Amino acid sequence: MAVEAASLATRCRQRFPIFERQVYINSCSQGALSDAVRAAYEQYLEDWDDRGAPWEYWVERQEAARTAFAGLVNASADEIAVTTSLSAGVSALASGLRFTQRSKVVLTDWEFPTIGQIWHAQEARGARVTHVKAAADGTIPLEHFESAIDDDTLIVALTHVCYRNGAMLDVPAVVELAHERGALVLLDAFQAIGSLPVDVAELGVDFLGAGVLKYLLGSAGLGFFYCRRDLVERVRPTQTGWFADENIFAMDHTDYSPAHTAARFQSGTPPVPAIYAGIAGIELMQQIGVAETRDHVLGLNAHLLDGLDELEAKVVTPRAPERRGALICVKSTDAMALVSKLGEEGIVTSDRDDSLRISAHCYNTVEDVDAVLAALQRHRKLLA
Ligand SMILES: Cc1ncc(COP(=O)(O)O)c(C=O)c1O
Repeated sequence: MAVEAASLATRCRQRFPIFERQVYINSCSQGALSDAVRAAYEQYLEDWDDRGAPWEYWVERQEAARTAFAGLVNASADEIAVTTSLSAGVSALASGLRFTQRSKVVLTDWEFPTIGQIWHAQEARGARVTHVKAAADGTIPLEHFESAIDDDTLIVALTHVCYRNGAMLDVPAVVELAHERGALVLLDAFQAIGSLPVDVAELGVDFLGAGVLKYLLGSAGLGFFYCRRDLVERVRPTQTGWFADENIFAMDHTDYSPAHTAARFQSGTPPVPAIYAGIAGIELMQQIGVAETRDHVLGLNAHLLDGLDELEAKVVTPRAPERRGALICVKSTDAMALVSKLGEEGIVTSDRDDSLRISAHCYNTVEDVDAVLAALQRHRKLLA
């Protein structure tokens, strides 16, 4: 694995100029800027300048983004909405559900704030929200879901990889349980997508939200929402806009006729610049290889975990490789100070809760990991 890992980063690293200046190991926060994504933004400006208002072409770019994301998650294009954020897609879904026959929404303790906030906002519409707690070892055992999901549960909101501790959920096991009890499942795949293969058919989820700015190498402003085909017409969003219409060119303001596809989860004018960047990021990531990246980062993180053990650091991410994503979190006595000390040495990381977040991607090397470990040794007193 070490040889292959070295060749993966060697193959792609020169496409990310930040590595000329910094050890960038913070893709859980934002992927590094590539030459391809920079060129895509330049192309957007050129198209705008050359052609004025090429809206038909820009709508085509939206379709290209939809197709690119569908291919990435093994869905079909009519199951994908192009949104401006993960939140926008999930909010459109929530707005289209009725909490009458079933009223319970089950969330995990790992959810990103936006997921908790969106579902708690539905309490005004009759939803009852229950939180599933994590265990002391940082995982969420299936038994915790068994006691929370019942025959009043309408939907279970899951996070694939937790942004706070890097833990990865056994999604298919929870989906099986939820479906047995008649509940729908929404997956927030933002911290997984691009870092490991995400296949909606294998996972079995009903809905999935993601964005492109982390391991998909795109920028802020673009998200995607997947809805399984047979569910599309069962959800009628009331949070909507003209790009959710069955015919956006009809310009009909006299009724509400949502698209017969997952485009019904869209809203207003699409984020055209971010779409250019997002397509470039997704294509680059597919060229580099998502499965290869997963293997590469597992190799780097095995090395990182060995080094952290030598430093007697407290790792809060589960140890089993199949129970973690790309992110490794380490307890600190002052995580913000530690991020800033590493930053002074040209090493870019981030923090959440009381932990330092170290998140390698395709472009990181063993040398980057060694640089982090050497810096942590120097700042040992900031490790809990
Ligand atoms: C797990 C997870 N979900 C959601 C989001 C944010 O989603 P958005 O701002 O696109 O709604 C993030 C961003 O950091 C995230 O890490």
